[in-house]
Amino acid sequence: MSTTATLASLTDSDRMADPNWWRQAAVYQIYPRSFSDSNGDGLGDIKGITAKVPYLKELGIDAVWLSPFYPSALADGGYDVDDYRNVDPRLGTLEDFDEMAAALHQAGIKLIVDIVPNHSSNRHEWFQEALKSPKGSAARDRYIFRDGRGENGELPPSDWDSVFGGPAWERVTEPDGAPGQWYMHIFAKEQPDLNWANREIRDDFLKTLRFWSDRGVDGFRIDVAHALTKDMAEPLPSKAQLQTKYNTGVDGFVDGSHPYWDRDEVHEIYAEWRQLFNEYNPPRTAVAEAWVHPDRRARYASPEGLGQAFNFDLLQADFDAEQFRTIITKNLGEASASGASSTWVFSNHDVVRHATRYGLPLAEAADQAEIMAGQAGKKWLLDGGKLEDVDVELGLRRARAASLLMFALPGSAYLYQGEELGLQEVGDIADSERQDPTFFRNKGVDVGRDGCRVPLPWENNGSSFGFGEATAHLPQPEWFGGFAVAAQDGVEGSTLELYRAALALRSQLQAAEELEWIPTADSDVLHFVRPGGWHTVTNFGTEPVELPAGTVVVSSGPLDLGDGSTGGKLPGATTAWIVA
Ligand code: GLC
Repeated sequence: MSTTATLASLTDSDRMADPNWWRQAAVYQIYPRSFSDSNGDGLGDIKGITAKVPYLKELGIDAVWLSPFYPSALADGGYDVDDYRNVDPRLGTLEDFDEMAAALHQAGIKLIVDIVPNHSSNRHEWFQEALKSPKGSAARDRYIFRDGRGENGELPPSDWDSVFGGPAWERVTEPDGAPGQWYMHIFAKEQPDLNWANREIRDDFLKTLRFWSDRGVDGFRIDVAHALTKDMAEPLPSKAQLQTKYNTGVDGFVDGSHPYWDRDEVHEIYAEWRQLFNEYNPPRTAVAEAWVHPDRRARYASPEGLGQAFNFDLLQADFDAEQFRTIITKNLGEASASGASSTWVFSNHDVVRHATRYGLPLAEAADQAEIMAGQAGKKWLLDGGKLEDVDVELGLRRARAASLLMFALPGSAYLYQGEELGLQEVGDIADSERQDPTFFRNKGVDVGRDGCRVPLPWENNGSSFGFGEATAHLPQPEWFGGFAVAAQDGVEGSTLELYRAALALRSQLQAAEELEWIPTADSDVLHFVRPGGWHTVTNFGTEPVELPAGTVVVSSGPLDLGDGSTGGKLPGATTAWIVA
């Protein structure tokens, strides 16, 4: 397909065969445990997803990205994988998976699965073998084991912190019962880091990628793609030395020499993966989750590497015209220079939902641009996360405007389940109900990410709002029913109908991966046009502004069209698509 052809002229089967399908895809992230529960155990499952394929088809997405569904103790919501080539029995079987993949494909929807290569779970057979094996053994070499410091090895090999809080090392008891070596875990202690210097690990992941590709999986989302290779040469630098050298924060790691973040050698791994992906027709795709300095993102997204990398810049920005314009221009430039297509994302399973972020009081909104998105809204959450402290109406209005703007951008749009309902974050989950390891490891500092993982409301009422027959595994608040699919289906002006309309139009209007900015009289207003005359105007301010000439084909909120002739107004926090 040439990139100038509109996607509307393609049939489902053309789209499925198109090697460039991913470049401007709308990808819908499913967090399987919280999507739909088919067997009444309170946990979402694979059959639940299959049952909702008609819903996904009607929504108009191009692909589903499935967060981990592998056997797991759920120490980190499934990102602690026991077995990379199987399905968690609580979620279904491999046959259920095949059935789901077939149903999605039949509906013209691609399937992307999450691959978690930085760490396995501590229940993985490799780790269990390592615990039973002596120091220096081949089994231990699959992970990062080191002797401790101090007279009796009682101190961790370095003072590094885990991302989830607490130390990045855990001491083991040796098979003879003596206190033993330490293993590294950048995340929870149930997630020991794998040793990617070991060829066996590399080969085994190639086998995993082939296993899912052979089953018809179309692409992969690579978890923590920037941490796989490590320089563990001793003496290990201290936290203070690293902070001085890298000026703290991921943005400081610009030269590839940090011991574990964003090292240059990691790309050797992805070059090998790319060869494997290209053996398939159409080639398998991949998107890196790499929280790296924006200038180093292109390496992950290059055609010789994974092909795409998440760009979290808009997710970290305020609802602000200038910030949006700068980010969009920079990322489109970088994507075209590297041959990748850009990605856009406002919400995922790690951050406070954008309909809530945009409604937080201003002081907190200012904080969120300064901290990693995983902690956005942290202050609000720590203050009790009450919905009454959020300006829900404003948050939703801005979220709808931002999403409609995103759908008009060249590149692919990643959406997170529930955002099509304008769903709000559940901030006030009782401590006794929380599941996220960041809550347990970082007491009092971080309440964690459970609030965006509460199971979806499908019906206005009922025990779990139609999620399933049992009580959902994370508590759903009473107000959830107001956001349910049933409350919005067919309702003019609902967020669900807005997403459906926008995604349908997006595929008709989609054009070459370019945009041109049109100057505006008001600095709060952004206006761009895609080839073929598809205009997008967003008013980030509060006062209505003149709409440009043309036919409005969709808007994120009501417009003031006066008597219906030209000269209508675009209210604040609203986006309109106009065909000139
Ligand atoms: C990624 C995932 C997050 C997980 C972490 C460790 O950031 O998105 O949910 O906790 O990796 O696997």
